[in-house]
Amino acid sequence: MSTNSATAVACPNIAFIKYWGNRDEELRLPANGSISMNLGDLSTRTSVMIDPAFSSDQLHLDGQAADPVSQRRAATFLDAVRSIAGEHLCARIESTNNFPTGAGVASSASAYAALALAASTAFGLNLSERELSRLARLGSGSACRSIPSGFSEWLVGTGDEDSYAVSIAPHDYWDLVDCVAIISQSHKLVGSTEGHRLAVSSLLQNARVADAPRRLTLCREAILNRDFSALAEVAELDSNLMHAVMVTSNPRLVYYEPATVLIMKFVAEWRHYGLPVFYTIDAGPNVHVITLTDHSKHVQALLASLPGVEKVLSSIPGGAAHLV
Ligand code: DP6
Repeated sequence: MSTNSATAVACPNIAFIKYWGNRDEELRLPANGSISMNLGDLSTRTSVMIDPAFSSDQLHLDGQAADPVSQRRAATFLDAVRSIAGEHLCARIESTNNFPTGAGVASSASAYAALALAASTAFGLNLSERELSRLARLGSGSACRSIPSGFSEWLVGTGDEDSYAVSIAPHDYWDLVDCVAIISQSHKLVGSTEGHRLAVSSLLQNARVADAPRRLTLCREAILNRDFSALAEVAELDSNLMHAVMVTSNPRLVYYEPATVLIMKFVAEWRHYGLPVFYTIDAGPNVHVITLTDHSKHVQALLASLPGVEKVLSSIPGGAAHLV
């Protein structure tokens, strides 16, 4: 193979039913299925260049050589692509986010979704959406949900072959808006890859996983029926269950900051007084406050006025990962 290159764009996603814990760490086979919404205003753009002159893989993030841990993770991922393609050449990856890196918005989902598409294309593969989602999953579990469009469900599956994400509704199906309250944090966080390993050490993980099929059904139906209060109820419960597992793990993982809890309380109060809002929180202190388009400016202003909120990002639902 001579030189070859491809560029792809993918959005991050916010899960309403969370992925927490793997039954197979290496293959990233999740303990439970999950459901998320792509965030269309945020994106990662990744180019992969293959050249026989390269002697090793290289990863550049926002114009800078990435740290060694990220380099190794990307090279391991490229090994998976090379093994499917029957290739051996090294590649250079250049990736940029249109949202501030380090703002606390998890970027591994958009990063590995864009990389799966760009790398498989550069190595001459023409994968189906299902195959791409499976491949992205190997890089970062939540990345498999950023391959299909709009609202997607990651099927728990029985193994590598059938654990991938499918779109349950297109991006323009429902005018939800994610208002992300960015909160400053005082300490370094345990990343999600490390966190997944700790999930089994919580007494609550089995109960959370056992009830997941019920919550997935409630969430899927709430999306399909555009039933905001049903989605609010199941998504807040699911976020609370994941954080209950986190704080009861050994060692414990406490991602909430005081401002996180303040927002959780305000969101419940705002909803009580008739505003369509609910919260969901990932492995960090930021609060994703979901509302409808008509209320989004108001919700953003309310969040920005709270102490401890550094800034507020917002996004409407996003489309599928695509080549550019
Ligand atoms: C809390 O997909 O980031 O955001 O597979 O190790 O990359 P890795 O983990 P990752 O885990 C996401 C965890 C979460 C919940 C979710 O997005 O479902």
